[in-house]
Amino acid sequence: MYFGIMNKHILYFTISFGIASLLTGCGDSDSDGNIVGPQKGDSSSSAGSSSSAEPVPVVKPIDYSKAVAMNKKLGKGINFGNTFDATCETCWGAGPLEKEQVDYVAKMGFQTARLPVRWDEAASKEAPYTIDPSYISRVKEVLEYFKANKMRVMMNMHHHDSFLYDLVYSDESCNNMSYKQRKNNGCNHQKAKENKDNLEKNLTRVDSIWAQISREFKDYDNDFLLFELFNEPVYGVSSATYNEMIKRTYPIIRATNPGRTLVYNTYPWGGAGGIRSLALPEDGNVIIDIHYYEPQKFTHQGHNSPCKTEEPVIWEGARSEKDKIVSDFQAMRDDANAKFPATNPEGVPITIGEFGVSTCANVPSKAKWIQFVVETAESHNMSWQYWAFTSVGGFELYDKYSGTWETAPVAALGIDTTGLGPIEIAPKEPETTEPTETESKDTDSEGANP
Ligand code: BGC
Repeated sequence: MYFGIMNKHILYFTISFGIASLLTGCGDSDSDGNIVGPQKGDSSSSAGSSSSAEPVPVVKPIDYSKAVAMNKKLGKGINFGNTFDATCETCWGAGPLEKEQVDYVAKMGFQTARLPVRWDEAASKEAPYTIDPSYISRVKEVLEYFKANKMRVMMNMHHHDSFLYDLVYSDESCNNMSYKQRKNNGCNHQKAKENKDNLEKNLTRVDSIWAQISREFKDYDNDFLLFELFNEPVYGVSSATYNEMIKRTYPIIRATNPGRTLVYNTYPWGGAGGIRSLALPEDGNVIIDIHYYEPQKFTHQGHNSPCKTEEPVIWEGARSEKDKIVSDFQAMRDDANAKFPATNPEGVPITIGEFGVSTCANVPSKAKWIQFVVETAESHNMSWQYWAFTSVGGFELYDKYSGTWETAPVAALGIDTTGLGPIEIAPKEPETTEPTETESKDTDSEGANP
């Protein structure tokens, strides 16, 4: 189990820091097709940009009131991260996602769960890209936990690595590796180019997976379930490719889900800088999802690596630090208003689908930052989902192994911490059916949980 977590730590560190730290400026692909862009959740490219001289295309104003009403209902949310977005539900130590956890989190006052799902691993690699029916059943089972608690769920496509890391590298040796090996061998995704040869296949696979999800989940109440197309497009999914993906999947999803609220993250990394390049469908039932982790050196300190022994990076809550957050959120709102004119007074709705601070950060500092981000988001009527609930590579509010909560950060989210304690999980009924010979062999060969 521990190794599972550490692998993920190392892997994410490589992505977030080893590579993201090389990033400068903003944007997507340069004239050579090299993908360039800011760090995860970086808002800097957006800040103040609404006053830039860049022409804003004239588009027909849309009535977003339906999505605004839904965004209001989303309210306070939490990511059930590193369960279904892991390589298997239990692979990274946060899963399995338990009914008792959902009951507990709902009682605490969380209204929404963002459920990141790695359909990539569950769908076949070749056409018709069928999703494993047992995976779909398990996701459905989990949705029932939330439904029973009257929580809403924003379900997405997360860590779609076969597309994100399908790149042509300047270091030739990287091109002969699997995408998993590339991530683990320091291949520089930043200097790589989109793999144009596979673009159509990758897009078709996403279309097909979404067609299946749309069919399978169409009967869930629109007031309960939202679909989020794709988490944090970056690297192999350029801004143009992401917009193409939006264009192609939109009619596919709408064919079976005419009334569902659709959520769109931004390129790259879900950052606010991507609002200006986002091509939303002409539809009033959509919400923009922005990930906010500013300043990154504070929120991600020690993330996916052991906590440093030297002084932690502190966020004091000084006027200048607060002003930066205020201006980032104002720029987000201004950019969204400029890019997506609306007939309703609130404009296109925005949710902060991820924000959070690593557990290496000093706790009072962390609590101050969380409280100020929440306050600022709410002052713009933005809903939010904290990253994340449990044992999630350093961002957890709840340590499921020790049964303890980080109470100051929880309180900073506006949640009453009185009586918070371990979540008791009832022992599961043993399986009643005898496994067939093949089933037991398969389980052995896959080695179950690491
Ligand atoms: C990723 C996580 C990561 C978190 C914070 C999420 O989008 O899926 O692996 O821990 O962001 O960076």
